[in-house]
Amino acid sequence: MRQIVREHAVGQGFSLVDQTKIVTAASELARNIINYGGGGEMLLRPLVDGNRKGVMLVFIDKGPGIPDIALALKDGYTTGGGMGLGLGGAKRLSSEFSIESRVGVGTRVTITRWK
Ligand SMILES: Nc1ncnc2c1ncn2[C@@H]1O[C@H](COP(=O)(O)OP(=O)(O)O)[C@@H](O)[C@H]1O
Ligand SMILES: [Mg+2]
Repeated sequence: MRQIVREHAVGQGFSLVDQTKIVTAASELARNIINYGGGGEMLLRPLVDGNRKGVMLVFIDKGPGIPDIALALKDGYTTGGGMGLGLGGAKRLSSEFSIESRVGVGTRVTITRWK
C-alpha cells in the first residue's frame, strides 16, 4: 500500500517531502484499519485541478466504528495501547481530512494531499 501511494505521488510530481507526508499519513490510516477496523480497503484517486495536482485516498472499513471522533483525534488518545498519534498525525500531514464513522457500521477516512 505504501509503495502504491508513493508511486502515485511520484506520478503526480510530488516532492520527496510531500511523498513522505502522504505515505506516512496513509500508513497510519491503514494501520488503524488493520488494528481496529478488522481490515478494509483503500481507494486512490489522482486529482487534477487546473495546474494543481494531488492525490485523494479513502480508507474504508466495516469495523466497530468510532463512538467519539473528536476524542479519537486527540493526540495521545488510544484504545489499543498505541501512541495515539495516528489520526491527528494523518490530519496534520494532509491538505484535507475528514472522518465519517458509525458505531456498528464502520469508518471512512478521506485525505487529500495537494502538491
Ligand atoms: N478505523 C478505525 N475503526 C475503529 N476505531 C478506530 C479506527 N481508527 C482509529 N480508531 C480509534 O481511534 C483511536 C486513535 O487512533 P490513532 O490516533 O491512530 O492512535 P492509535 O492507533 O495509536 O491508537 C484508536 O485507538 C481507536 O480507538
Ligand atoms: Mg493508529
